Amino acid sequence: MKDKEIIIAIDGHSSTGKSTVAKQLAKALQYIYVDTGAMYRAVTLYAMRKGYVDEFNFNQEKLENDLSLVSIKFELNKENGLAEAVLNGENVEREIRTLAVSKHVSKIAAVSLVRKKLVEQQHQMGKDKGIVMDGRDIGTVVFPNAELKLFMTATAKDRAERRFLELKDRGEDVTYEDVLKNVVNRDHIDSTRKDSPLRKAGDAIKIDNSNLSLEQQFEQILQLAKTTIRNS
Ligand code: DC
Repeated sequence: MKDKEIIIAIDGHSSTGKSTVAKQLAKALQYIYVDTGAMYRAVTLYAMRKGYVDEFNFNQEKLENDLSLVSIKFELNKENGLAEAVLNGENVEREIRTLAVSKHVSKIAAVSLVRKKLVEQQHQMGKDKGIVMDGRDIGTVVFPNAELKLFMTATAKDRAERRFLELKDRGEDVTYEDVLKNVVNRDHIDSTRKDSPLRKAGDAIKIDNSNLSLEQQFEQILQLAKTTIRNS
């Protein structure tokens, strides 16, 4: 008999490796993986391309008026087996990961109408369970009844170092100081915004991975997931 399927919500600060562990977990359990940050990033890219947001201005009203024109989907990359973000029919997986998008995404993610649209889509994606979803508000707002909730954190310095190496690897011309500033700034906006601020759900398990290897962290979380599935 197939095990009962559950919802696994993984929240936490930026660059804590949420998506790495969520992908590993989804693969091991044969669950669907949804990166909700990618959805907010794709809306941000749309707003940037339209000139609705830049360093100095943000025209929230124009973005809100356009929301019905913004379609975000995921498509499977057959080479690596991972889901990639598609904005209005265009694969934008690479572009949404740039520091330029990271610099604006928290402003866009603070807009209630944007959140409403994306949360509705996330509810649909999780309605049959068997899903690992990562983000900021999954355990608090999107799936408050998720069977397993994790809240991941690490020091800003550790997170910025990881993100800096990742961006460098991808050939981006960035400095460590810029990345650190972005990590700290996003933490601040994400956790102080009015709508669905980043916070740990009361029943989420906190994982500080500053001193854990990827393998140690994955093993720990996989055991938690298996125990939760068994007891559900
Ligand atoms: O996980 P990430 O760093 O790719 O997310 C990008 C931004 O999107 C993050 O700074 C906050 C926002 N976000 C959010 O507000 N709610 C989510 N569920 C996921 C991401």
